[in-house]
Amino acid sequence: MKLGVLASGEGSTLQAVLDAGVSGEIDACVRLVISNNSNAGAVQRARQHGIDTLHISSTTHADDEARDQAITQALVSAEVDLVLLAGYMKRLGPQVLETFSGRIINTHPSLLPKYGGQGFYGRRVHEAVLAAGDTATGATVHIVTADYDAGPIVGQVTVPVRKHDTVQSLEDRVKNAERKLLLQVISDWRDQTRDQGPRMAKVMPGD
Ligand code: GAR
Repeated sequence: MKLGVLASGEGSTLQAVLDAGVSGEIDACVRLVISNNSNAGAVQRARQHGIDTLHISSTTHADDEARDQAITQALVSAEVDLVLLAGYMKRLGPQVLETFSGRIINTHPSLLPKYGGQGFYGRRVHEAVLAAGDTATGATVHIVTADYDAGPIVGQVTVPVRKHDTVQSLEDRVKNAERKLLLQVISDWRDQTRDQGPRMAKVMPGD
């Protein structure tokens, strides 16, 4: 199974997918990494694995439609089966959503629908969870639709919040659980799309 990955940041999620592809834990390989940030750790990690990378942003394509078209064409040319948003902090355009409808997944560091939508991403989610005094959080993998963080959920994992958790310790634990969940979702997706459409991934136990 060929994957196209969009990522904006450090790229630890991408790294887990790259490593799992190399080790054979998942039967999937990353064909292309697209980033809106040419300095992203994700871009460096992709290059170290010899994966093609593309910088597509408002700097390279000022017009929303042109940017959407460039992303769509790159993913189509790479013949990807599944598109993964791995810490991609930009909204996708209508063309890519339509072309890959039902085949774009996003990983989000909360138990959606909690802490989803505009303004909730990365560490901000963990800050909000700690500020609210929640005793549990987690991660969600969902299919991407036009509505932010609102598409059908394909997998979710719960992570307990510990008494002395900091944003950093919580983020580390959620990311760890999130990576396992994501690999499980990709693996299940591969199995299920061999002969039928995707369905719910197993819900993983918290760590
Ligand atoms: C991940 O925790 C991912 O769920 C989150 O950003 C982190 C990326 O980390 N994504 C979002 O918040 C999207 N709304 P990484 O750059 O180390 O892979």
